[in-house]
Amino acid sequence: MNDDPKAADDSPRRELAARLAAAEEGGGSDRIERQHAAGKLTARERIDLLLDPGSFVEIDALVTHRCRDFGMEAKTVPGDGVVCGYGTLDNRMAYVFAQDFTVFGGSLSETNARKICKVMDLAVENGAPLIGLNDSGGARIQEGVASLGGYADIFLRNTLASGVVPQISAIMGPCAGGAVYSPAITDFVFMVEGTSYMFVTGPDVIRTVTHEDVSMEELGGAATHSARSGVSHFTVANDAACLLAIRELLSYLPSNNLEDPPRGVSSDPPDRSDESLDTLVPKDPNKPYDIKRLIETVVDDGGFMEVQADYARNIVVGFARFANQSVGIVANQPAFLAGVLDIDASLKAARFVRFCDAFNIPLVTFEDVPGFLPGTKQEFGGIIKHGAKLLYAFAEATVPKITVITRKAYGGAYCVMSSKHLRTDVNLAYPNAEIAVMGPEGAVNVLYRRELQDAGDDAPRLRSEKVAEYREKFSNPFIAAERGFIDAVIAPSETRPQIVRALRQLAGKRQRVPPKKHGNIPL
Ligand code: HXC
Repeated sequence: MNDDPKAADDSPRRELAARLAAAEEGGGSDRIERQHAAGKLTARERIDLLLDPGSFVEIDALVTHRCRDFGMEAKTVPGDGVVCGYGTLDNRMAYVFAQDFTVFGGSLSETNARKICKVMDLAVENGAPLIGLNDSGGARIQEGVASLGGYADIFLRNTLASGVVPQISAIMGPCAGGAVYSPAITDFVFMVEGTSYMFVTGPDVIRTVTHEDVSMEELGGAATHSARSGVSHFTVANDAACLLAIRELLSYLPSNNLEDPPRGVSSDPPDRSDESLDTLVPKDPNKPYDIKRLIETVVDDGGFMEVQADYARNIVVGFARFANQSVGIVANQPAFLAGVLDIDASLKAARFVRFCDAFNIPLVTFEDVPGFLPGTKQEFGGIIKHGAKLLYAFAEATVPKITVITRKAYGGAYCVMSSKHLRTDVNLAYPNAEIAVMGPEGAVNVLYRRELQDAGDDAPRLRSEKVAEYREKFSNPFIAAERGFIDAVIAPSETRPQIVRALRQLAGKRQRVPPKKHGNIPL
């Protein structure tokens, strides 16, 4: 027995040091090596790369699980498989949890879930973004319903935090079963190529139930979720690239729904015009061009962070800045499926519009759309309700809204794409814009069906005459401008200064929706 009072005083400190060292070590050097061999960083390495150097403050490093079954009492690791805390990104506060795959496969226990819930609550109370770095075998099998309850506690918080603080999920390893639903509720999902996957039921279960043979990568890898399911918003090459991309994304976003986005830093002149735009959009309405070239020409320093670049490529969404102000850009892409609106494009753009609206980010829309995609696949798939989502999203948005019609604005798509009628503040059009109920060929077939049938051999001449007549009437923005549906017809080269002016004009915009519990968007 040690009677030295000084030594007795030191023992809690030594105990603390030992526990913190154990927390730091996680699952031990062998498992860390395995993590590295798999091309993955550890939870702590990831946090170090994500946050400003030295800014991380850990919370609950000493928490352990309370499971007494399956011999678990002998297996405790301080921290219990998740590293939680806060720190800064570009000097702005953010809350973080990083699942530690080296400890019980990063699986979610009751106490581990409580740690995550604690940082989620802190993020909402203090109005700072929440970043989750996911790398987990899912519910901790030894804990049964206690672990499932922990997931549900997280889902509830994801839902309540939605629209209050930005929530970002990085998938940096497995994310399977019900665990996928937390990232799914968050605003943006990043996936790392080759090491991450997400699915509700894995390949083995699928083989048993539906007899389909599918690999883990094909079922739930980054390529699948970026291009096919649309679950993921950003695909990144490795862990380091993922953490850098999260920093870039946050640079466009406010910390919470009561703040404005941070100002950027740029010396790009706000009044810079660009003559190349006068010839970028082909006069021939059927000729494609790349709308991303237009976007990159007009925004500050060509900087555009595209969201869901590989999904529904007929519409382009992402963040950029005009005169240092963050904006969300929504643009039809004539270079892909002629920029038509379909189910996937509607879903992609609607969610993006609602995010921007929730977080005070003005919307700039570039419109060149031949209409909604016809066909049984679209109709049976519910293009009516999905297209309505985009309409609803633009209509309910109260942030500053600016639309530039670069060429076609046909049919229902004219109404949907942030038209004046949906409370858009500034509607501009290029001189060659065409605003009509439908394209000339379709319109002539409807209006002159009988005449064309009766014309016999003369039908082609009659059709082209009527098409020319229709074009003459509608191939310009002036009918819309006469009614004030278009505020100004502008030279394409003046796009940037016009948008900058509009944003300045709208800087103090305050608009409300009628009081209600919440709307009923057609889900
Ligand atoms: C407890 C787990 C675990 C889990 C992994 N481990 N998953 N421990 N509960 N869910 C442990 C392993 O025992 C192992 O411990 C360590 O983590 C690493 O796992 P490995 O299998 O060695 O790693 P790897 O070969 O890379 O395989 C990873 C894996 C696999 C594919 C994730 O571990 C796996 O299939 N795990 C189970 C996945 C699962 O079915 N989870 C439940 C999903 S349902 P040692 O000590 O050996 O290092 C779900 C419901 C949520 O989550 C519901 C919410 C509503």
